[in-house]
Amino acid sequence: MSGVHLSNCLFPYSGAGVTFRVAGEGLLLVEGPDRVFGFRGLPRDVVGAIEAMAPGRSLAEAEATVETRHLALLHRQLEDLLRRFALVVGIGTEAGLVALLEPASPRVRFPRSLAPPTGGELLSRFASLRRDGSALVLESPLAHARLVVHGVEAVALLARLTGPCDLGQISSTGAPWTGPLCNVLRGSGFLTSATRDGGTAEDDDLSLGSWEFHDLLFHTRSRLGRHAFPMGGLYPFPEVPPPPASRALPEGRRIVLDTPDRALLAGRDPSLSAVVDARRSIREYGDEPLSLPDLGEFLFRVARITRRRTAEVQVHSTTVTMEFAHRPFPSGGALYETEFYVAVARCQGLVPGLYFYAPAEHALILLEEDPAKLGPLLADASRCTGVPVEALQVEIVVSARFRRMSWKYRGMAYSAILKHVGGIYELMYLAASAMGLAPCALGIGNPDLLADLTGTDPFEEGSVGEFLLGSSRVIPDP
Ligand SMILES: Cc1cc2nc3c(=O)[nH]c(=O)nc-3n(C[C@H](O)[C@H](O)[C@H](O)COP(=O)(O)O)c2cc1C
Repeated sequence: MSGVHLSNCLFPYSGAGVTFRVAGEGLLLVEGPDRVFGFRGLPRDVVGAIEAMAPGRSLAEAEATVETRHLALLHRQLEDLLRRFALVVGIGTEAGLVALLEPASPRVRFPRSLAPPTGGELLSRFASLRRDGSALVLESPLAHARLVVHGVEAVALLARLTGPCDLGQISSTGAPWTGPLCNVLRGSGFLTSATRDGGTAEDDDLSLGSWEFHDLLFHTRSRLGRHAFPMGGLYPFPEVPPPPASRALPEGRRIVLDTPDRALLAGRDPSLSAVVDARRSIREYGDEPLSLPDLGEFLFRVARITRRRTAEVQVHSTTVTMEFAHRPFPSGGALYETEFYVAVARCQGLVPGLYFYAPAEHALILLEEDPAKLGPLLADASRCTGVPVEALQVEIVVSARFRRMSWKYRGMAYSAILKHVGGIYELMYLAASAMGLAPCALGIGNPDLLADLTGTDPFEEGSVGEFLLGSSRVIPDP
């Protein structure tokens, strides 16, 4: 594909809300909705070509206004603008665009400087096509750009690329934009090479090949770097009040737990070093099941509300009064979205069933007393740990009220919740270890099972962690 041909099918122009303006000799001013920056010392023709860029005007038209010796500089300048999220690049013909390249990270490449397509390539298994607003977008955690796809012809090309294609051949036989689009797909990281044995280069790569699609997408989207989506404490739903500090107490019989004497606990507890050294996952239990006072003490150490406070929070242009209910573990934004449910199979002094832990009242509320209904939950725990189901004593299910986090945080709400579960697990291990109980974290759980038992909407509040607790038959190392 010749460079002229490629330039005819690329349509660079300023991104949403951005304008390019010549503000003096060799000075290009870039004005965006939330920033202004400039470039000095550029040749007059390059600055003029960039200022004239608009939808429907091809790169070839811009290049025609620039001296040949300035072409490379023009392309570098456009790449710089793309990398600063000030430029988008349409792909298509004068009759219309088939796709729009939008930068997703400062490592994006301007398509004019990409190597031409070679043979034997197909879509990466990490690429995905989805609706975003009214647009169809192609995204990939491996790409530094995303592609807004216009129309069925581009979709048909993507469908064809689900198997290995000779890009040179489809470029020379397809519509004029086929080569440029293949070039963009390849250069932006949406494609992988087919290998001789029927595999792909990305799967033969030991690091990449071991990632699952959803894990890599979640990893990259919940961290900075490979997307341009807003992240952090941005309060995206200012029109609705913040979800409460802790959940409303469910109906049910209450078992008020004894409040441990904290001075007594402090005097009795082994040192932190001893507790950390003794901490183990224990999957064998003592002959006598865990007792209700021990379960109560464990929940007090791990999950009670330690203090409540009210604060005025600045949410965009208004101030919102928010309640915070702290617990013994840390929580991003002090939002404390987690709740604790206790599935009791065997516990001295407590009838089997599912309980909600009321953290301010330090009480258990019985939600389901038919032990048979706990069967699927306990069966999963047994499968995960190898503990026979009839030996299980107590499973603590950690749930999250997702909106408490997503009301404040964008892009990181769910990853922060999982980090909270890590902190909670460690506190549970340490508390159990200090008390000589048998703890074991679980890696897998089923939110639908908790939702079936509690009647909650699993997308409003869902289980995010599970933890087994029992009496110990293991005497910890001294
Ligand atoms: C996030 C997480 C998930 C875990 N999932 C399981 C599990 O599903 N089944 C299990 O038997 N142990 C599970 N464990 C316990 C680990 O197997 C255990 O921590 C590891 O073998 C180290 O042993 P230790 O805890 O005795 O030091 C998990 C631990 C963590 C932190």
